Amino acid sequence: MRFLFAASIALLKGAYALSTTNPVVGHTRNGSYSGYRIPELSNEAFLGIPYAHARRLYIADSLTETWNRTRNATQYGLTCPGWGDQNDWEWPIGEDCLNLDLARPAGTFPGQSLPVMVWIYGGGFYQGAIRDPMMNLSYMVQTSTQIGLPVLVVSVSSRLAGYGYLNSEETVREGIANLGLRDLWKALEWIQENIAGFGGDPTRVTIWGESSGGLSVGLLAQAYSGQNAGLFHAGIISSVTPYSPFMGTMKQQQAYFDDVIASTGCNASVEIIACLRDLPLSQYNASLYAANSGTDFRPIIDGDFLKNSPSFQFTNQQVAPVALLLGANSDEGLTTFINSANTSEELTELVQEKFALNASASSELVALYSELDTLPPYSQPLDIDWIAKTAAAGYTAGNWSRVGYAIGGDWSAISGRRKTAQKWTNGTKGQPVYSYRFDTDPWRYPIHNESSGLGLGFAQHGSDLCFEFRIPYVPYTPYLPIQNVPAMHRVSYALQATWISFAATKDPNHHGLDWIPQWPEYSVSQKNFVYNATLENTLNLHVEADDWRETQMQWWIDRWDWLLTQAKGF
Ligand SMILES: *[C@@H]1O[C@H](CO)[C@@H](O)[C@H](O)[C@H]1NC(C)=O
Ligand SMILES: *[C@@H]1O[C@H](CO)[C@@H](O)[C@H](O)[C@H]1NC(C)=O
Ligand SMILES: *[C@@H]1O[C@H](CO)[C@@H](O)[C@H](O)[C@H]1NC(C)=O
Ligand SMILES: *[C@@H]1O[C@H](CO)[C@@H](O)[C@H](O)[C@H]1NC(C)=O
Ligand SMILES: *[C@@H]1O[C@H](CO)[C@@H](O)[C@H](O)[C@H]1NC(C)=O
Ligand SMILES: *[C@@H]1O[C@H](CO)[C@@H](O)[C@H](O)[C@H]1NC(C)=O
Ligand SMILES: *[C@@H]1O[C@H](CO)[C@@H](O)[C@H](O)[C@H]1NC(C)=O
Ligand SMILES: *[C@@H]1O[C@H](CO)[C@@H](O)[C@H](O)[C@H]1NC(C)=O
Ligand SMILES: *[C@@H]1O[C@H](CO)[C@@H](O)[C@H](O)[C@H]1NC(C)=O
Ligand SMILES: *[C@@H]1O[C@H](CO)[C@@H](O)[C@H](O)[C@H]1NC(C)=O
Ligand SMILES: *[C@@H]1O[C@H](CO)[C@@H](O)[C@H](O)[C@H]1NC(C)=O
Ligand SMILES: *[C@@H]1O[C@H](CO)[C@@H](O)[C@H](O)[C@H]1NC(C)=O
Repeated sequence: MRFLFAASIALLKGAYALSTTNPVVGHTRNGSYSGYRIPELSNEAFLGIPYAHARRLYIADSLTETWNRTRNATQYGLTCPGWGDQNDWEWPIGEDCLNLDLARPAGTFPGQSLPVMVWIYGGGFYQGAIRDPMMNLSYMVQTSTQIGLPVLVVSVSSRLAGYGYLNSEETVREGIANLGLRDLWKALEWIQENIAGFGGDPTRVTIWGESSGGLSVGLLAQAYSGQNAGLFHAGIISSVTPYSPFMGTMKQQQAYFDDVIASTGCNASVEIIACLRDLPLSQYNASLYAANSGTDFRPIIDGDFLKNSPSFQFTNQQVAPVALLLGANSDEGLTTFINSANTSEELTELVQEKFALNASASSELVALYSELDTLPPYSQPLDIDWIAKTAAAGYTAGNWSRVGYAIGGDWSAISGRRKTAQKWTNGTKGQPVYSYRFDTDPWRYPIHNESSGLGLGFAQHGSDLCFEFRIPYVPYTPYLPIQNVPAMHRVSYALQATWISFAATKDPNHHGLDWIPQWPEYSVSQKNFVYNATLENTLNLHVEADDWRETQMQWWIDRWDWLLTQAKGF
C-alpha cells in the first residue's frame, strides 16, 4: 500500500508543470467557465460558480442550462441569508445562493486529476460565507505546489438557519428536513460530475470543515447510512464531531417551527409549507428572528438523510468508508462556556443550566473536574490571579471559571473528538483515523491580546482558522491573520502540508518536510499530533498520548448517546 502511494505521488510530481500561458478555463458538462490568475500565489481561481438552484423550502434543483460561450467566473456569488457576518459586511445576500469558489495551481489543465479539498464553512449553522477573506483558498493551493503535492481547493455554500434547517414533523414529512446538509450533498454531486474539467480527481475528494462545518463532515459521512456513493474518500473535522451539542432534537426544533408558523399566520393554512414558501423574504426572515433570533435552527435525525443516531451508526458500521483526520483545540471551553463562577455551587448551577443536566449530574461533573491539577487554559499556571488578569483585559471571570472552561471544552468538542477517534476505524470497517490537538493561540480573548503583553494566550474555539488558511499578517483587518512571527507561520505551513498529504493519500506523512514529526495512526497508537507554536517564536510540533483528563472525558464518552437525546445546544 505504502509503495503504491509513493508511486502515485511521484507520477503527480512529474505531471505537474507550471504554465502561465494556457487560458484559465474549466469545463463543466454543459458549458465552460473562465477564471483569473493570481500570479503572486501561483494560483488560478474561479468564483461564484452555481452548483444548484435554491428555492425556499425545496430540495435544491439541479442545473439544467447549457451554454456555448465561456462564462466568466470572476465575481463572488450571492451569500446565503443567516445571522451575523452575513448582515455585517454588506455582501450581496439572496436565497438562490448555492455556488462555489475554486482555486488551483497555475497551469492546471483539465484531466490532470489533482486531489480535491472541499471546504465547508462553520458558524453554528446560522452564519458562514465562502467569500469571507479569512477563508481564502489560495494559500492552501500555494503550499500544495511548494511541497510538490498540488491540490485543487473548493469552497461550497449551503443554506443556513431557517432557510437550511427549518426542521419539524411537517418538513420531515415533506422530505425537506436538513436542507443545508442536502445542499452540501448536491455540491458534492456537482463536483463528481464536473471537477475533472477543472483538473480535479473525482475519486480523491476530501471534505473539510470547522465547528458546524466539522459536524457537517461527520454527518455527511453518516448520511444515507454511510452509503456515500464514492462522493468523497476522506474527511477532515476541526473541533466539532457528531457527538455534539450542536445537534438538534425534534422537540426543540418543532417548537421553533411552531413559532414561525404562528407568527406568520401560516398555522391557519391548510398548506402550511406552501404558505411559508409564498411569504415575502422580509416576512419569512422576520419570523425566523422572532422564533429564536435566527440562530438556533439545527440538523436533526430525520429518518431519511440522517437515519439514525451517530452511536447506532458507528456500532452498526453504517459510516461511509472514508479516512478521517480530526482534532480539537486545547482550550475550546474558553469560548464555549464563558462564565464567572466563584464557587463550586455557582459553577454547578451554571453547568445545570447550560448543559441541561440535573443537579446530581452537574455536581458530579464539577467534583470530577475540580480534582484536576492542570486545567485549561493550559498555557497559564494554575496559581495566577485569574480574576485580576482577565479584568485587566476587560473581562469578568471568577475563581471557578477555569474549571468551567475545562468542562465546556470537553462538552462542546474535545470528548466528542476522542470518542469519534476511538470509533472511526471499526465504524468504517477499517479506514484510518488521525487525531490532532491544535495548541497555538493567534492572540485573542480573554487575557491575551495584542497590546496587553500578558504572555501566552490560548487555543480556543476558532483559533485554528487563520492557521488552516495560512492568512498572512495584515494589520488592521476585520479578520484574524497570523501574527508576524516565523514559528507561527511554520505551524500553519505544517498544518497545511500534513492536511494536503492526507487529502492526497489518506496519510498525513507524505509531505516530504523533514522538520515535521511522523504522525502515527490513531487506532494503532491512540496518539495525537500537536500543533504548537508561540508568539515567542518557539515551534513545538510533537506527538502525545491521548490519555489526558481520562476520567473526566470518559464521563462524557459514556453519556454521549443519552446526551444527544437531550441536546440543548449553545
Ligand atoms: C446539463 O444539462 C442537462 C440538460 O440539458 C441536465 O440534465 C444536466 O443536469 C445538466 N448538468 C449540469 C451539470 O449542469
Ligand atoms: C450551441 O451550439 C450548437 C452548435 O452550434 C447549437 O446547436 C446550440 O443551439 C447552441 N446552444 C446554445 C445554448 O446557444
Ligand atoms: C469576462 O471578463 C472579461 C475580463 O474582465 C471581460 O472582458 C468580458 O467582457 C467578460 N465576459 C462576459 C461574457 O461577461
Ligand atoms: C485570496 O487573496 C488574494 C490576495 O488578496 C486574492 O488575490 C485572491 O483572489 C484570493 N483568492 C480567492 C480564491 O478568493
Ligand atoms: C395561529 O397562531 C396565532 C398566534 O399564536 C393564534 O392566535 C392562532 O389561534 C393560531 N391559529 C391556529 C389555527 O392555530
Ligand atoms: C433578516 O432580519 C435581520 C434582523 O432584522 C436583518 O438584520 C437581516 O438583514 C434580514 N435578512 C434578510 C435576508 O432580509
Ligand atoms: C466493531 O463492529 C462490529 C460490528 O458492529 C462489532 O460487533 C464489534 O463489537 C466492534 N468492535 C469494536 C472494538 O468496537
Ligand atoms: C440525573 O441524570 C443522570 C444522567 O446523567 C441520571 O442517571 C440520574 O438518574 C438523574 N438523577 C435524577 C435525580 O434525576
Ligand atoms: C505551546 O507550547 C509552549 C511551550 O513550548 C507552552 O508554554 C504553551 O502553553 C503551549 N500552548 C500554547 C497555546 O501556547
Ligand atoms: C487589549 O487590552 C487592552 C487592555 O489591557 C485594551 O486597551 C485593548 O483595547 C485590547 N486590544 C485588543 C486588540 O483587544
Ligand atoms: C466573581 O468574582 C468577581 C470578582 O469579584 C466578580 O467580578 C464576578 O462578578 C463574580 N462572579 C459572580 C458570578 O458573581
Ligand atoms: C479568589 O481566590 C483568591 C485566592 O484564594 C481569594 O483571595 C479571592 O478572595 C477569591 N475571589 C473570589 C471573588 O472568590
